[in-house]
Amino acid sequence: MAKESFFKPFYSVLVLAFVCSFLVSLASVGLRPLQENNRALERKKNILLAAGLLHGDTKDKDIDTLFAQVEPRIIDLATGAFVSPKVIDPKTFDQSASTNDPQLSQPLPKDKDIAGVRRLEKYSLVYLVKDKGKLKEIVLPVRGKGLWSTMYGYVALDSDLRTIDGIAFYEHGETPGLGGEIENPAWEAGWQGKKIYDDEGKVAIKVAKGASKAKGKAASYEVDGLSGATLTGNGVQRLFHFWFDDQGFKPFLERLRGEEGKNG
Ligand SMILES: Cc1cc2nc3c(=O)[nH]c(=O)nc-3n(C[C@H](O)[C@H](O)[C@H](O)COP(=O)(O)O)c2cc1C
Repeated sequence: MAKESFFKPFYSVLVLAFVCSFLVSLASVGLRPLQENNRALERKKNILLAAGLLHGDTKDKDIDTLFAQVEPRIIDLATGAFVSPKVIDPKTFDQSASTNDPQLSQPLPKDKDIAGVRRLEKYSLVYLVKDKGKLKEIVLPVRGKGLWSTMYGYVALDSDLRTIDGIAFYEHGETPGLGGEIENPAWEAGWQGKKIYDDEGKVAIKVAKGASKAKGKAASYEVDGLSGATLTGNGVQRLFHFWFDDQGFKPFLERLRGEEGKNG
């Protein structure tokens, strides 16, 4: 009987390892478009959810049809001006990646970083919801530190650019049942109709500790806190104060208010 080579088992293991890693990388590359598609679908769903345009019975195949009424645009946060799609294409702009790019974002000094975002991007996506060409709502992406994690969400504003139509948090690492309740539709529904700015244009929205006891006009600026999760609620409040003030979307909203006023 021929003698087995001493190295044969090693060759077999090497070949097996090579074949397996080849198959894994093939699957990873092959599945990438599907994963990107799913991510885009999730993003659209959350924008529609914040805008109150998604219903329990909406099927995935209907998302693109519903999203046809949403126009993604890029804005320059500092000036509040729209950036032409010819300069930056909203369809391909990766806002999250831009926060790590020194050309497209800058570090925030600690005293200005009340939402704990660390770096602020130069450009942001915004989503205009139109009805027969007229602005109906605007959906803005927000993020900020909670107790354990960065919380990501969308805020939909009414065409008065002051009243909240809806909010949707879609990513966070807060504790389920405590801070994790930020994604509970029942809690999110409590934001509908609340006003972000007071009559002087100052950011006035608040998250109460526990159930809100505010009455009259003050009640329109206050939402219920999360039971046993005041710290996450504080993070949500800080996030609103950051994104709706001068460093965030305020220059854009003021500019848009002026433009909408001119257009009647
Ligand atoms: C394991 C564990 C997880 C917690 N997770 C959260 C959380 O996600 N968000 C939060 O605000 N508080 C969380 N807390 C509670 C906070 O430490 C703190 O007690 C609470 O925010 C205070 O809110 P309250 O005054 O409404 O009780 C957690 C506590 C424990 C022990």
